[in-house]
Amino acid sequence: MDEQQASEQLAVTRREWDERAPLWNERNLQNWDTPETAAWWGEWFAKLRAFLPDAPAPLLDAGCGNGQISVLFAREGYAVSGCDLSPQMVEFARANAAQYQPASPIEFTAASIDTLPYADGQFAVVNCRCVLDFAPRPAYALRELRRVMRPGGVLILNMMGANSPIKRQYWLRHLQGLDAVADDFTNIFNGITPWEVDRIMPVLGWRRLYQEANYGGTAGGALNEFDSEVMLGLPTLFQQTAATNWLIVADAVPPISLT
Ligand SMILES: C[S@@+](CC[C@H](N)C(=O)[O-])C[C@H]1O[C@@H](n2cnc3c(N)ncnc32)[C@H](O)[C@@H]1O
Repeated sequence: MDEQQASEQLAVTRREWDERAPLWNERNLQNWDTPETAAWWGEWFAKLRAFLPDAPAPLLDAGCGNGQISVLFAREGYAVSGCDLSPQMVEFARANAAQYQPASPIEFTAASIDTLPYADGQFAVVNCRCVLDFAPRPAYALRELRRVMRPGGVLILNMMGANSPIKRQYWLRHLQGLDAVADDFTNIFNGITPWEVDRIMPVLGWRRLYQEANYGGTAGGALNEFDSEVMLGLPTLFQQTAATNWLIVADAVPPISLT
């Protein structure tokens, strides 16, 4: 994909997410002060805690959407910057943060993860949750995420499984054409898979510390019919295919040379 194709695809992606922003904001966290949110985040953060530096380390929420994760990290004391391709999402994120995390304001910027407006080595933690799959050139985006991380910094990457229910309709186009898939669906996905990211990461300068599958339902209500207990016993490749989301935690190390 050349520069022009990438920028055209990025413009389509930006428009799609600008249009979806109100629905995304409605379907996701509405209230950061409920016991359910506290329980969900408590479990998630406990899992990550072993890999993270102490707050107030600088943290980038790359592709922050409506700021739901940015707010939660800020509440743990991290110095959070958030960026998102969609200016509409950034507006929601600013409003949500002002309401739910006014004590230490989060700085939000409209920017794409493949051209980040931050200095080399600026962040101790980069969180990138369900964003990579939408970047026209995902390897460029990964390289950029690595650039803004300091040595030893930690990446928390969530991406879709290769046949995630979020992506599944995308494959239907091979059988039925784009008209046959749901009406709010435009192809803004790229085709990168967790096993490809596995291969790319050491070359870009990451060492994987942890990975796991999530088989939960999607924000749009689609279920993942795979049983997580059964899947756990299967080879990693199968899990990476069936997962709704795939989590990778990695730290920034010198890149390995291919020569
Ligand atoms: C599925 S949402 C995830 C939002 C957030 N990470 C979360 O977990 O709540 C995907 C987000 O990625 C953003 N996005 C898509 N492509 C992007 C890109 N190239 N750079 C930055 N953000 C992007 C969209 O605008 C949208 O807000």
